[in-house]
Amino acid sequence: MKVPFFRLRLSAQEKKEVADALASGWITSGPKVSALEKGICALTGARHAVAVSSGTAGLHLALEALGITVGDQVITTPYTMIATIEAILYTGAEPVLVDIDAATLNIDPALIESKITRKTKAIVAVDIAGCPCDYRRLRAIARKYHLALIADAAHSLGADYRGQAVGTLADATVFSFYSTKNLTTGEGGMVLTGRKRLADEIRLLALHGMTSSGWKRYAGGSWKYDVVRLGYKYNLSDVSAALGLGQLRGFEKRQAKRAGLANRYNRKLADLGGLLDLPFCPDGSNHAWHLYVIRPIPERWGISRDRLIVELENRGVGCGVHFIPIHTFTHVKKILPVGRYHLPICEREAGRAISLPLYPDLTLREADYVCEVIHELAKRFVG
Ligand SMILES: Cc1ncc(COP(=O)(O)O)c(C=O)c1O
Repeated sequence: MKVPFFRLRLSAQEKKEVADALASGWITSGPKVSALEKGICALTGARHAVAVSSGTAGLHLALEALGITVGDQVITTPYTMIATIEAILYTGAEPVLVDIDAATLNIDPALIESKITRKTKAIVAVDIAGCPCDYRRLRAIARKYHLALIADAAHSLGADYRGQAVGTLADATVFSFYSTKNLTTGEGGMVLTGRKRLADEIRLLALHGMTSSGWKRYAGGSWKYDVVRLGYKYNLSDVSAALGLGQLRGFEKRQAKRAGLANRYNRKLADLGGLLDLPFCPDGSNHAWHLYVIRPIPERWGISRDRLIVELENRGVGCGVHFIPIHTFTHVKKILPVGRYHLPICEREAGRAISLPLYPDLTLREADYVCEVIHELAKRFVG
């Protein structure tokens, strides 16, 4: 059997939404984008949402609109996708990396305070794999030191922390609608905030700093506008938003499928307890199940993590690694003082992480096959 790491199947309804957008006579940012913003606000309970061209763009704009600039420091995690760090670098600020909690793989709030300096202006927390960070502690630190708190929620649309939806837990929350994410527009993203002025600033920055959009001008508004900031071209098109609207309709159902598959993995791999660590989500939080990351216990296996991935792939099981620690990349080593970093937990956990296939189109039969292969490999390679 072949189980790809990811497979996207769009419904007839989703394709129809895109076809309708194409036929509507207006294909860039317009009514579909506004409808998607409203839809994500309704889903999360957030007050304001601004659609953007990617999660990376959303992080950049959130940081800039919150005043992060050259000479500032922003605390974040090394266990993330490079986009988190690139967005901080775009503002001219320095990312300061803080080690993670081994159970959740999220930034460890207990290690943050010792890294705060007079230059620290913000924390960017990442909900790895869809498990919400410890927002109660992060918010307390942010309040105490007057820092902005930004949630990189690229993985966690649909998750909640102690009953409160991701999207409402930080000064700004950024979702990614990249092709593999829990809700996709192909490429795209969204910034959510409870603060209208922040949302207005982000909207302005996302479209050249112009006071009026093309849709407003051509749909009966005045041709006049001003440019009041150095902005960017980070808007989302209506064609992309149409796909997002279609995806939004099926969101709860797809999330239930992801949770059901994660449960299946949990049950079928439970007996490998002392050989593998399975994903962990703290009591009271709901995981979005974007990724299912297992961590073999290296001392128990006669082969390395990398070889284990090859063995899985040889048996038709596609795998991913989330993530390669960002301070090990060539470019990051050139520009950040990585020699001074002490990030042993990130290095240990990233070195044993394997992401298994997890997506709504995955069948229970396929998930069971993945578990059978892991059992077979455990029999063969565990000493
Ligand atoms: C943790 C994290 N942050 C940010 C991003 C960037 O999102 P995008 O690809 O939409 O720019 C990603 C994308 O995979 C991600 O995994």
